[in-house]
Amino acid sequence: MTIDAAAFDFVRRLLRERAAIVLDDGKQYLVDNRLSQLARREGLVSAQDVIDRLRAAPRGPLQRKVIEAMATTETLFFRDGKPYEALRNTIFPELRRLRAAERRLQIWSCGCSSGQEPYSIGMVLHEHFPDLTGWDLRLLATDISTDMLARSRAGRYSQLEINRGLPGALLARYFDRAGHDWQIRSDLRRMVEFRELNLAGPWGKLPPADLIMLRNVLIYFDLDTKRQIL
Ligand SMILES: C[S@@+](CC[C@H](N)C(=O)[O-])C[C@H]1O[C@@H](n2cnc3c(N)ncnc32)[C@H](O)[C@@H]1O
Repeated sequence: MTIDAAAFDFVRRLLRERAAIVLDDGKQYLVDNRLSQLARREGLVSAQDVIDRLRAAPRGPLQRKVIEAMATTETLFFRDGKPYEALRNTIFPELRRLRAAERRLQIWSCGCSSGQEPYSIGMVLHEHFPDLTGWDLRLLATDISTDMLARSRAGRYSQLEINRGLPGALLARYFDRAGHDWQIRSDLRRMVEFRELNLAGPWGKLPPADLIMLRNVLIYFDLDTKRQIL
């Protein structure tokens, strides 16, 4: 069973207003698919039930769950390779030179999903710039999804997630076995501060950043929102 047109419009408006996420026409199947999974977790029968319940009490806790369920959280370690080569070969050497006097570096990973991005940055720093880890080095990672932030903070990954992008040598150096999963080493975990932040809402106080990783996030927003965020 798929959701009706009014339910689709409701979710579309909610996502746009609360998270700036734009859902194109014809994406009913996506809403149906993602909210059906949420329905099972909530003990409901269908995506339509989830939306009907939310419409009856729009300000309740279900609102956040619907937004989080609809956000695309696809990520992997060292995603696309090249940006991390640039960090290693160009960006961090340059930042080390520019910040040598203060010995202070602030990095921000926005839309960090389940943490692979900030931990990949952390591994580049540990592997290739051990001197920088003695600096006042701050790695802030933010996301709108509290579920994703909890996963990031836990730093625990399935074999499947590990197989997606993490070289074997880094697995051996930075992860410990945890049952069937892998746990990131605590010193890497401690490098990163995870914080909830809606890029489309008020940001509160943020430290000025030397490097911002804003990858695979703006694609979900309309042009005005992209401009505002940039
Ligand atoms: C596709 S993931 C990208 C993760 C990582 N940056 C990467 O490139 O692999 C997009 C992330 O953006 C987050 N997101 C979506 N809308 C957001 C918003 N309005 N504010 C902050 N984060 C948002 C999602 O929760 C999701 O974790």
